[in-house]
Amino acid sequence: MQQSPFRSDLFAGKTLFITGGASGIGYGISEAFARHGARVVVMSRKEEKLQEACKRLEPLASVAPEYRVGDVRDAERVEEVARELFETGGGVDVLVNCAAGNFLTPFAAMSKNAWTSVIDIVLNGTANVSRSFGNRMFDAQKGDASVVNIVAGYAWTGAPLVSHSGAAKAGVLNLTRSLAVEWAPHVRCNAVSPGPIAGTEGVKRLMGDAGLGEQTTRSVPLQRLGEASEIGAACLFLASPAASYVTGACLPVDGGQDAWGPFGTLFQQAGQ
Ligand code: COA
Ligand code: NAP
Repeated sequence: MQQSPFRSDLFAGKTLFITGGASGIGYGISEAFARHGARVVVMSRKEEKLQEACKRLEPLASVAPEYRVGDVRDAERVEEVARELFETGGGVDVLVNCAAGNFLTPFAAMSKNAWTSVIDIVLNGTANVSRSFGNRMFDAQKGDASVVNIVAGYAWTGAPLVSHSGAAKAGVLNLTRSLAVEWAPHVRCNAVSPGPIAGTEGVKRLMGDAGLGEQTTRSVPLQRLGEASEIGAACLFLASPAASYVTGACLPVDGGQDAWGPFGTLFQQAGQ
């Protein structure tokens, strides 16, 4: 692990609430905030996974990590957790919406329930958490509160074979911008768009299972997959005072993948 360029007490006295923060990219974000002094509260569906993540975070953290079991699709449960954390738990300073579900399926073969399950987790889930947490962060008017939503580069291109996820992430990106305006000046609201991140469920499901490991690396100008810690670092930046004039932005952390564009992709495919 490289030495962090950020001060180790950057988030001392602050609380991060993160959905999907017990595995993959979300765990990388939880770890980054824990290493920089934050109290980290993680929420997702599987208690065993949450317990395991908190156990891994504990030795890095200066405040004991916590978890809440909850499905982001369950607006009542989300509201219950938010009420508890704001009324008796000191509130939340940084919210990261990272929970997601995804799988490769052509639209023609996608059942109504397959479409709905991904839209419900990614778009409606982000809205549920934003409603219960973001609105309270706005009402608290602390001035340095921040939301970071995790999207994907296909939110602004097209998302063949993952059209449900593409439509949902496009919605989340738009919601990010709407809330950046509605919640200004009290809560900054930004997005991070990761490229392919090593060792994650996303890469396994979307590229690994399709046998596209090597091509995936070649599709990245920096010629490697990213690390979850690199997404964590981007979230630290966006939630920190270093980004105090940044709101409504989407930061691609993708090794330059998005920069290929249609022209670059043409030459890449031609092997040049
Ligand atoms: N291909 C096609 N359809 C699929 C599918 C696949 N690989 N996986 C699930 N579905 C369909 C199911 O068949 C079901 O539709 P049906 O009722 O018409 O049969 C629908 O999607 C919902 O599936 P279910 O398993 O009941 O959903 P869930 O709510 O328990 O789980 C998922 C949500 C499907 C997104 C699950 O994969 C998940 O929990 N993912 C979280 C982890 C993840 O995806 N990480 C990567 C993030 S990039
Ligand atoms: P992951 O480990 O599977 O992360 C998804 C997390 O969401 C899991 O921890 C899961 O935990 C949680 N989750 C799923 N459904 C939930 C629900 N209904 N309610 C609450 N929590 C739920 O996958 P990942 O690849 O690291 O992806 C993390 C994020 O990065 C996602 O938003 C994804 O779209 C985005 N992304 C990933 C990549 C990549 O290269 N991997 C690239 C671009 C964007 P439980 O099972 O405990 O619920």
